[in-house]
Amino acid sequence: MKIVIPGGTGQVGTILNRALTTAGHEVVVLTRRPPRDREVHWEGETLGPWAEEIDGSDIVINLAGRSVNCRYTPANLRAMMDSRVHSTRTVGEAIAAAVRPPRVWLQMSTATIYSHRFDAPNDEATGVLGGTESGVPGYWAYSVEIAKAWERAQEQADTPHTRKVAMRCAMVMSPDRGGVFDALLRLVRLGLGGPVAGGAQYVSWIHDRDLVRAVEFLAGRDDLAGPVNLAAPAPLPQRTFMRVLRAAWGVPVGLPATKWMAELGAFALRSDTELLVKSRRVVPGRLLEAGFTFDHAQWPEAAADLVRRVRGRTRPSHTVAL
Ligand SMILES: NC(=O)c1ccc[n+]([C@@H]2O[C@H](COP(=O)([O-])OP(=O)(O)OC[C@H]3O[C@@H](n4cnc5c(N)ncnc54)[C@H](OP(=O)(O)O)[C@@H]3O)[C@@H](O)[C@H]2O)c1
Repeated sequence: MKIVIPGGTGQVGTILNRALTTAGHEVVVLTRRPPRDREVHWEGETLGPWAEEIDGSDIVINLAGRSVNCRYTPANLRAMMDSRVHSTRTVGEAIAAAVRPPRVWLQMSTATIYSHRFDAPNDEATGVLGGTESGVPGYWAYSVEIAKAWERAQEQADTPHTRKVAMRCAMVMSPDRGGVFDALLRLVRLGLGGPVAGGAQYVSWIHDRDLVRAVEFLAGRDDLAGPVNLAAPAPLPQRTFMRVLRAAWGVPVGLPATKWMAELGAFALRSDTELLVKSRRVVPGRLLEAGFTFDHAQWPEAAADLVRRVRGRTRPSHTVAL
């Protein structure tokens, strides 16, 4: 199949591109940077020659959007919004204009769309969308607005011959350098991988190989459309999540961080505490109902697998296992 991935140069795109190419598909990535092999230039804002790639393709997986790993200043929040809404709208226009539109459009969305809550998990049917929680920073509502506007841009696209799925994706855990898992592991190795702000907030996550399998599953299931949660079925409190990761790496202690320390750390790392402190308790209701099975459903096993792969990554190739 021919698969077009707008915004496919980042963390998630690299995982999908690698897996789908290995599986024998023709993958074309749309990028704003000077294109390399199997990449095509676009700006993510207006139609252009790149749209020819979409015409006659089988699947479009749109991942484009300004990274959320930044300080949530008004300017960055605006860029996070505009890059997602504009690129999604433009992908929709390309699909609408195609003579041979793709069969399916898998649009990235986010687990952040759900409310900050501890009491019950959010599935697609009974989950509560965020934005009205009390006692949380006001700008958290804007992150939810971004997610809603992102999904709306796909919903409103007039693409009657293309099935549309919005992937409400949790944090993707992969052994690749520069990803979320890499960052968490770095904290663990520094002895800093303890609870943050009490650690009761839930962490939703998905193992990279299950992400690929879920994307393949959604691409193949003509009966599935609309929002679908991409998250392992067992989210867990951040303090447990980090304890398991410390055990997997073999580090006994992790210093706890108060909310203030987290604020300082996030500031130093040019990131935002929302990524650490918001309780994302998201479960894959529709995937499970449709018969999808996770290879890495539980964090202890998934963390052990990821740690093994990180250690394999760093071991020099001439090392002989004794
Ligand atoms: N990583 C996760 O755990 C996770 C979880 C849930 C949802 N998501 C969402 O999934 C998407 C992909 O995640 P990722 O981690 O791969 O992100 P990433 O590494 O930041 O990659 C996103 C890509 O979007 C493109 N992009 C950035 N700004 C853009 C703009 N203004 N207009 C058009 N394209 C732009 C960039 O490609 P070029 O520079 O090549 O154009 C970049 O490589 C993001 O939208 C993210 O919010 C990620």
